[in-house]
Amino acid sequence: MDYLKYLVREIHSTVVATVDENGLPVTCAIDIMDYDENGLYFLTAKGKGFYNRLVNKGYLALTGMKGEDTMSCVSLSVRGKAKEIGVARLPRLFELNPYMTEIYPTEESRKALTVFCVYEGSGEWFDLSKKPIERASFTFGNAVKSQEGYYITDKCISCGKCLAVCPQNCISKGTPFTVQQEHCLHCGNCHEMCPVDAVEKRG
Ligand SMILES: Cc1cc2nc3c(=O)[nH]c(=O)nc-3n(C[C@H](O)[C@H](O)[C@H](O)COP(=O)(O)O)c2cc1C
Repeated sequence: MDYLKYLVREIHSTVVATVDENGLPVTCAIDIMDYDENGLYFLTAKGKGFYNRLVNKGYLALTGMKGEDTMSCVSLSVRGKAKEIGVARLPRLFELNPYMTEIYPTEESRKALTVFCVYEGSGEWFDLSKKPIERASFTFGNAVKSQEGYYITDKCISCGKCLAVCPQNCISKGTPFTVQQEHCLHCGNCHEMCPVDAVEKRG
């Protein structure tokens, strides 16, 4: 819930990817306007290509960022299933986001609008402002969490070659050595350099 809240309250404007009728990706800017225990909410107009792509595939991926520049930036990415829920929530979205009345000023002008809910999915938080970097993954709805990234198995001989090539210095010594998942860039250097193939890529 904290991640969904951050997306709505702190980031708000995101870039959303959908897939067109040829299976090709299309992106557009979309404001994520509300959240609750059932997911994320945004609105769009039924005349848009974006609407058609959403209804056809029922799936989207989005990324939003907050920060002045790369090294002060946090990104939040979400991918998951989206369904149209109609207009019942529209007044609430306008109430929460009063700037919408500048774009759609009258009740009449809102006739084409409809609301979507992203009700199930997974996401990732990536914070480049921290040293070492910080990342976390999450799921919502009935999505099953999958393991991503690199893990060191019992084949590890504690030689330290992985630690020497880790750009974030985020491998802890031990038997076996362990990757600090919350600081890992997923660059794969440890996997490449391990002389005994002890580093597994998951996900
Ligand atoms: C900052 C920003 C936020 C936007 N938010 C929305 C939104 O929440 N809903 C929407 O339908 N369009 C929104 N738009 C407009 C869409 O990005 C635009 O209509 C886009 O062309 C839709 O894609 P399409 O042309 O493929 O249908 C926003 C545009 C900007 C610049």
